[in-house]
Amino acid sequence: MTELTVPTWTGDDLSDAEFAAITKCLRDRRQFDLEQYKDRCVRRRIAKRLRLAQVTDFSAYLSRLDTDLDELDALLATISIHVSQFFRNPDTFRILEQSILPDLCRRARAAGRSRLTLWSAGCASGEEPYSLAMLVDDLGDADLDIRVLATDISEPILESARTGAFDATRLREVPVQAIDKYFRVDNDRYQLIDRIRDRVEFRRHNIVTDTLYPAADLILCRNVLIYFTRSEQERILSRFAEVMQENGALVLGRSETMIGRIRSCFHSEFPVERIYRRTAQPAATTGL
Ligand SMILES: C[S@@+](CC[C@H](N)C(=O)[O-])C[C@H]1O[C@@H](n2cnc3c(N)ncnc32)[C@H](O)[C@@H]1O
Repeated sequence: MTELTVPTWTGDDLSDAEFAAITKCLRDRRQFDLEQYKDRCVRRRIAKRLRLAQVTDFSAYLSRLDTDLDELDALLATISIHVSQFFRNPDTFRILEQSILPDLCRRARAAGRSRLTLWSAGCASGEEPYSLAMLVDDLGDADLDIRVLATDISEPILESARTGAFDATRLREVPVQAIDKYFRVDNDRYQLIDRIRDRVEFRRHNIVTDTLYPAADLILCRNVLIYFTRSEQERILSRFAEVMQENGALVLGRSETMIGRIRSCFHSEFPVERIYRRTAQPAATTGL
């Protein structure tokens, strides 16, 4: 009996034509434009999916993507990496809870505003926006309407986030008191209570192609920019600057940083945690 050997795809073994064919397929079928993503990073992720799907014949795989939408979404999910966790980088959330959120609330009241928007851009399966919603609930500022907007490019991951249901293993970083207060056990899964779910609105938004960004007082865009080229990162940061008021806060991932001319629009308030404040500098001067 002949044994079928599955190639150990690495990504570098994809020809430029094969890479271009996958790029076109994802752009046409899922409006996902790989051009702004770092090439090597994308090739590695495609290779991971090819290995998992045990692909031996690349052109057969391309044809399969025409009809097998589950495989198309699995490929997209592998490329866009949805890793997340509740209260990821706990020190960041501690600063948000003790310093940033109370300050934003104070400023809103002083300005006679009753509504605040917190935006988790690239929210993956929802752990980040739900962590924010729990912090807001703990603040107990009943006089303010504080909404959490959570966006991602991937509709399947948003679907799963909207359920607010998580396996026990996903709750490792959630303090026990918060589990007792905000979750109930339902068929071996932990279900967030409606009060927390209702505070979060999940919406599909592509931070590269949807150039209209929502206005927000606090933006968390963590572990998303790393996948983009430098010039795309600058464009995204400049759009954030445009929709933020002075003193609004922006949080990036631990391995991400403010780059280029847009730096003049932000002051680094907590450098280790990558927490920035919008300065009074007009965003238009960035000219990006
Ligand atoms: C590694 S996860 C980060 C999740 C969360 N922010 C965190 O730090 O735990 C990256 C997320 O960015 C999303 N993403 C990638 N490209 C995007 C784009 N162009 N627009 C919006 N979201 C995108 C992916 O779908 C994925 O869910």
